[in-house]
Amino acid sequence: MKFTTSIFYTTVVTLKLSFIALLLSSSTSVQNLKPSPKIAPIEQKVDSVLSLMRLNEKIGQLVQYSGSWDATGPTSSQGDQHKLEKLKRGEVGSMLNVTSVASIRETQKIIMEHSRLKIPLIFAYDVIHGYKTIFPIPLGESASWDLDLMQKSAEIAARESAASGLQWTFAPMIDVSRDARWGRVMEGAGEDPFLNSKIGVARIKGFQGDDLSSKFTIAACAKHFAGYGFGEAGRDYNTVNIGIHELHNTILPPFKAAAEAGVATFMNAFNDIDGIPATGHKALQRDLLKGEWQWEGLMVSDWGSIGEMIAHGYAKDKRHAAEIALNAGSDMDMESYAYEAHLGALLEEQKITMNQLDDAVRRVLRLKFELGLFDDPYKYCDEEREKNEVYTPINLAFAREVAKKSIVLLKNDKKMLPLSKDLKSLAVIGPLANDKDSPLGNWRGKGTYNSAVSLLEGIKGMVGKNTKIYYEKGVALTVPSVELGTNQFLHPLKFNTTDASGIPAAVAAAKKAEVVVLAIGENAYQTGEGRSQVDIGFAGLQNELLEAVYKVNKNIVIVLMNGRPMDLSRVSQIAPSILECWHLGSESGNAIADVVFGDYNPSGKLPVSFPHHVGQEPLYYNQKNTGRPNSLNHVTFSGYRDAPKSALYPFGFGLSYTTFEYGEITLNKNVMTLNGEIIASVEVKNTGDVAGEEVVQLYVRDMVGSLVRPVKELKGFEKIHLKAGASTTVNFIISADLLQFYTANNKWEVEPGTFNVWIGGDSTTEPMKSFSVVE
Ligand code: NOJ
Repeated sequence: MKFTTSIFYTTVVTLKLSFIALLLSSSTSVQNLKPSPKIAPIEQKVDSVLSLMRLNEKIGQLVQYSGSWDATGPTSSQGDQHKLEKLKRGEVGSMLNVTSVASIRETQKIIMEHSRLKIPLIFAYDVIHGYKTIFPIPLGESASWDLDLMQKSAEIAARESAASGLQWTFAPMIDVSRDARWGRVMEGAGEDPFLNSKIGVARIKGFQGDDLSSKFTIAACAKHFAGYGFGEAGRDYNTVNIGIHELHNTILPPFKAAAEAGVATFMNAFNDIDGIPATGHKALQRDLLKGEWQWEGLMVSDWGSIGEMIAHGYAKDKRHAAEIALNAGSDMDMESYAYEAHLGALLEEQKITMNQLDDAVRRVLRLKFELGLFDDPYKYCDEEREKNEVYTPINLAFAREVAKKSIVLLKNDKKMLPLSKDLKSLAVIGPLANDKDSPLGNWRGKGTYNSAVSLLEGIKGMVGKNTKIYYEKGVALTVPSVELGTNQFLHPLKFNTTDASGIPAAVAAAKKAEVVVLAIGENAYQTGEGRSQVDIGFAGLQNELLEAVYKVNKNIVIVLMNGRPMDLSRVSQIAPSILECWHLGSESGNAIADVVFGDYNPSGKLPVSFPHHVGQEPLYYNQKNTGRPNSLNHVTFSGYRDAPKSALYPFGFGLSYTTFEYGEITLNKNVMTLNGEIIASVEVKNTGDVAGEEVVQLYVRDMVGSLVRPVKELKGFEKIHLKAGASTTVNFIISADLLQFYTANNKWEVEPGTFNVWIGGDSTTEPMKSFSVVE
């Protein structure tokens, strides 16, 4: 059915109530009404639709179902039957996990052909690092520190999604995450609130563009509100115990930035914070986000998180959970079935109000108008686009660009890298060396199983024909019977801890070769949701393989593929060169080869600290000093007896094939007023013999505060490109708003006093200048 809806709403607002009543016969649909000469603003249209809605239809707009069922085929279970009936009655607002133009069109048709008001559904999906063209996992991409690049990759992901019928992604995840044990560390931008804010906004801009109604953009979702990255002991879904100041200073800034950037939706979180489940957290959702921050978007619950308040022991049953969630400002119920079952009765009992309900429904309708779905519910359903605009050579080329810029060179003794393309022989070894699936990472959208370019393929495509390649897997990482293809998302992995039969062949290959490239790390599904681990070392028999190869050939290039900071203590002792390659997506092998053979000079910097030992976790650079920060030759200081307290590879760290020298920091003045600013400058010189990029980082410390302040905080960064021998001056404007924090007064304020400032190539940079802020 073709229709134009803009029409209807403008018409209705001008109609008298009695006439509206007349229109609301059972055959009335929002599509049948006459056009108005002028398009009313969205708010008026929203009000108009709302005025037509019956209670069941309002509640229906707050219901989101998963539809991983085939909408085009016969329904397969009672659950699906229930969903189908609800769709027909117009009692569903959104679907997730329905993908492909055909399925989306068919599902939308159910609403359009059967429901009274024909309010289109919004179709959502977890497009986390690409739809079908897969980009590096978000943590990896964050290592590029290149905001334009990340914006563009989100834009491509949005274009592919929109071309495939989707209108809403549940990304970006902007949970500050500091615990390598937490599997979802792969999905965010790491441990720093400033970096998370900048990257979050870049990704939101990429997904949403300037105009949500464009058929090339989709709605983004800032998640998970809030605290999800701080689960105790790195255990997923675990309780979060943080104080109000830590919440405001560390966790909330990326969300505030997202709200200010106009993110269309938020998702709340599974965890409780200091005893209150985030999904039922009124102070956070209704008072802060929707109140103080005046954000007008749509808050969706996380999957089943409304119902999970029962297991938390916070709600006695689903009805109670629905009451808590709606009161708290949770607008849409993803898969808890709590709103559909109980909001009606709760309204009758006056446990919730019609105003609250209307507010939630308005937020859903507003988004549907903004997306242009009322104008054409099939707007995103274009089979031609789906065929021609997804997984294109251009998109893949850009994925390679993003992937190579996400690689971090952690170690490069004696300039072992880059390798010559004319090596006589090269051994490519390891369980991940020819793995075409793990590089896609977890949360890989519609990325096809086994579709990445493997490292081996990338290397073969790069070296000259005289180079002899010896490939050996050495050991399998997982036990083959659990290599379940796409099903791996839901299944635990079993690691190979017994079969070492491939090691002798790997050793023989290593013996024959000039250089060994050893690809080790993590399977794609070792990180992601529900993938917490207490051990962040190399699973299975990878250590045995490493030691055996090292015995016969010391010229090892370690290629790490992983989704979390790993324990690299042994590897960093013995391997002369290490490349952190994350899970780099569709073009992984080509991108790694670009770096290994020097076609691209690596420029990535770590967005998370890598520890010496898992026992240091959570480890992050912007820690507080404690009263006993240093060793005084006795035991009573804040450290460990059996390991350093610093990172093995710190936040912001990453090498290049060239070297950069930093001049002295200069400040244009030493004193600034509360509303003033200071310019901090530094000259950076490329002192090596090849061109390269450097991420110049600005850190600040507020020396004395009404609350203890972190030892350093990232407050600016700029990625520069310098030819060999060239230099440039990088300036940072330090304005008062950068120095604010959520103070002991429970307000965002700048406190007068001394501030130290550092500019360097990582968070351990030492030369420093000071300035003061005065009233
Ligand atoms: C649960 C995850 O926590 C959330 O991030 C995701 O968007 C939903 N499932 C939907 O898949």
